[in-house]
Amino acid sequence: MMSNIDEIYFVEKNCFGNPWTREMLESEISNKLSVLETENKNGILCGFALGRVIADEAELFKIAVLPEYQRQGIAERMLIALHEKMKARGAMVCFLEVREKNEAAIALYEKAGYRRVRVIPRYYGDDNAVVLKREL
Ligand SMILES: CC(C)(COP(=O)(O)OP(=O)(O)OC[C@H]1O[C@@H](n2cnc3c(N)ncnc32)[C@H](O)[C@@H]1OP(=O)(O)O)[C@@H](O)C(=O)NCCC(=O)NCCS
Repeated sequence: MMSNIDEIYFVEKNCFGNPWTREMLESEISNKLSVLETENKNGILCGFALGRVIADEAELFKIAVLPEYQRQGIAERMLIALHEKMKARGAMVCFLEVREKNEAAIALYEKAGYRRVRVIPRYYGDDNAVVLKREL
């Protein structure tokens, strides 16, 4: 039987070219400032969204959905639920950084109400970062 953290790590490995290690995920998720949302389909954890709330500001670290479950509205649903958890912890605004070349993620975030704040050139070495912001 896989634990929740094993399942989240499985999604992480299958969704990112430079995944966090299991230890990084476990440590972040166990932090008391963390907010986590997961989605299950047919008993399988197919997506997660992970962020943090510090005082009245939230940050979204990552959101991922297993490839075979993408384009079914799962990320959109998890984001809405995560925003509610962030608000319940007192956050008024959520920030995130994303690779400028990650068109799927940027489209998702803009559909969810995020607006571009600025671009950080070569933040990822081979790509710029776009900083996005959403009032909660
Ligand atoms: C980004 C990601 C989380 C989207 O998950 P998803 O469950 O497929 O997204 P949804 O089905 O909820 O899509 C919601 C909206 O986002 C946009 N979107 C999602 N995937 C898209 C794609 N491949 N191309 C263009 N737009 C896309 C669309 O506007 C979509 O609405 P629509 O289907 O009505 O057109 C998923 O592609 C993923 O896990 N990618 C790898 C990890 C990653 O890059 N995460 C983001 C950085 S942390």
